[in-house]
Amino acid sequence: MKVVTLRSDALAESEPLSGKPASAMIHIDRVSQRFQTSGRQSHLALSDISLTIDDGAFVSILGPSGCGKSTLLYIVGGFVSPSDGVARVKGKAITGPGPDRGPVFQEFALFPWKNVLGNVMYGLRQQGVKHSEAEAKSRKLLEMVGLKGYENFYPKELSGGMKQRVAIARTLAYNPAVLLMDEPFGALDAHTRTRLQNDLLNIWERDRKTVLFVTHSVEEAVFLSDKVVVMTRSPGRIKVVVDIDLPRPRKRAELLLDARYQKYVVDIEKLIDDTGEDEIHA
Ligand SMILES: Nc1ncnc2c1ncn2[C@@H]1O[C@H](COP(=O)(O)OP(=O)(O)OP(=O)(O)O)[C@@H](O)[C@H]1O
Ligand SMILES: [Mg+2]
Repeated sequence: MKVVTLRSDALAESEPLSGKPASAMIHIDRVSQRFQTSGRQSHLALSDISLTIDDGAFVSILGPSGCGKSTLLYIVGGFVSPSDGVARVKGKAITGPGPDRGPVFQEFALFPWKNVLGNVMYGLRQQGVKHSEAEAKSRKLLEMVGLKGYENFYPKELSGGMKQRVAIARTLAYNPAVLLMDEPFGALDAHTRTRLQNDLLNIWERDRKTVLFVTHSVEEAVFLSDKVVVMTRSPGRIKVVVDIDLPRPRKRAELLLDARYQKYVVDIEKLIDDTGEDEIHA
């Protein structure tokens, strides 16, 4: 794996990441994932992934469809255990899901029989938080994600973007150290997506949680992240890690006009485009 720092006019490559810095929140160490499949005997989804994510960092993963992005998030979430290698959170090997890692996955639908408030309160109540305390906290979070006034609505009465906001509030409610977000805005219209990106960035800039964020959008990855991990085609390997050296807090309208932002987007698009043939069967 290479770490690439894209400057205004140059692709400068630094040494590969080595060792485990003291501030590491997530440490993925030589992880591979081979699935047994019915059609094929087995399929190597991830190959030799090593990645360190610092406490409080916002890291995005980009790569072609099927390259193993979701699988990697499931491994860090503890929903899949890797065939090889080890993933750690705060130095401890991940053996299953835990309250320190909050998934925001599209498959984890809201409970249709609970209203918005009930969905957000659920995790807190499960943790034994008193009803009144859980309710107060959930109401505050719903206000933060722009859903004040919708507490009594049911999921079927909400738009896609509103459901995503509830899902984010639900995960934030139990205060995980790490947010695992798998294309959380993928199904949304451009306007809602932009609003939720801004909201997420505001929340992140306030709380500085560690975020591992999967997306297909280069612009979204550059706008949000400290680092962008570019993966190769299947079997997924890390092609490069790009440091996004843009000032924070970030304002979308300013960034769109910023030549450095534009260059990151163009350069990363190129990196994805030549996610080379030679890598496919490597
Ligand atoms: N449970 C499973 N059993 C067998 N194969 C699987 C399983 N989960 C994923 N795969 C395979 O692993 C590979 C990686 O899948 P994954 O869903 O992680 O890709 P992805 O990068 O998230 O793709 P997308 O961008 O389309 O969401 C695919 O070839 C997929 O078919
Ligand atoms: Mg996926």
